[in-house]
Amino acid sequence: MPKFAMFDAKKYDIASFNRNFDSQEITLKYYDTKLNIDTVHLAKGCDGVIVFVNDTLDKPVIDALYDLGIRLIALRCAGFNNVDVRAAFGKIHVVRVPAYSPYAVAEHAMALLLTLNRKTHKAYLRTRDFNFSLYGLTGFDLHEKTAGIIGTGKIGKVFIDICRGFGMKVIAYDAFPDKNSDIDYVTLDELFARSDIISLHCPLTAETRHMIDSESLNKMKNSCVIINTSRGALINAEELLFALKNGKIAGAALDVYEEEADIFFEDHSDMIVQDDTISRLISLPNVIVTSHQAFLTHEALDNIAQTTLKNIRDFFDGKVLENELCYRCHRKEECKKNRSERCF
Ligand code: NAI
Repeated sequence: MPKFAMFDAKKYDIASFNRNFDSQEITLKYYDTKLNIDTVHLAKGCDGVIVFVNDTLDKPVIDALYDLGIRLIALRCAGFNNVDVRAAFGKIHVVRVPAYSPYAVAEHAMALLLTLNRKTHKAYLRTRDFNFSLYGLTGFDLHEKTAGIIGTGKIGKVFIDICRGFGMKVIAYDAFPDKNSDIDYVTLDELFARSDIISLHCPLTAETRHMIDSESLNKMKNSCVIINTSRGALINAEELLFALKNGKIAGAALDVYEEEADIFFEDHSDMIVQDDTISRLISLPNVIVTSHQAFLTHEALDNIAQTTLKNIRDFFDGKVLENELCYRCHRKEECKKNRSERCF
């Protein structure tokens, strides 16, 4: 029976995997700790690892996993910027969950926008203290405002539909525009200049890293608010902080943060967080931070568990891995996957 070590396993992960897996088919070992070079030894005796967004799968960790006999890395997420897929190629197959609920993430993006704009988080705290004052709670109508969407894949498209439901005008930028859609594509510069709200839904790559920096922030309206439910490093957080402090933009709602790996998903309430940038961002009245929770719905967790287990089953059944990825999948060189084979 195959044995898998699941890293960064929280109560809700364990519950959803326990709901969906057959203990006669696979043995799962749950570890609360993240995978990195110090914890990689915990995978000893296993056939594979199940990992999440803040686990480290760089070359040293991948080489160590390979030496331990690991043959499958099963990502229980869509983004794979934390995996050195080139280092894994030819050694360890990598599979992911490409889509588990674009609705979960897009709906959270709208929840962040509504909260930031209408300040319901502040009103909630006030009324619990019998403070019924409305000072400082003024927002703006979303109706007729322009939403600029960067990345019009699965999540971006759902978010566009939600924005249209609010009567917003939508413009978008994508490096690979969907020509069969009715989306109004514009250049990135035009999007920065025209948008009242900018929402990020593209992957983190070498090209998109720090796409929001002082240069792009300076092209935005002073009234613009930024929503990031994609990956933290799309934004240069220091430069965002500077723009927020100086009124260059009006607000930011962040579900992800470049340096989140050592902070998010854990309770740090009894210690002093040493990361000054996130501490200062959180201290601003026009910033909301959530802890990479956009995916966190019952439906998404069940889909993640079911797809991960199917990926593992397919691997051991010798099938083609429809959710496999390698460094050649998105490049011009032909990946064997296009010939209905495994990537290597
Ligand atoms: P997707 O692959 O369906 O869509 C991504 C879109 O970005 C594609 O249309 C692609 O052409 C576009 N794109 C690629 N390079 C670009 C560039 N340089 N500039 C502009 N657009 C570019 O992915 P999906 O499922 O919509 O997810 C988007 C991102 O959301 C993921 O990469 C992941 O980082 C993030 N995510 C965050 C979650 C959370 O809990 N906060 C949960 C799931 C995903």
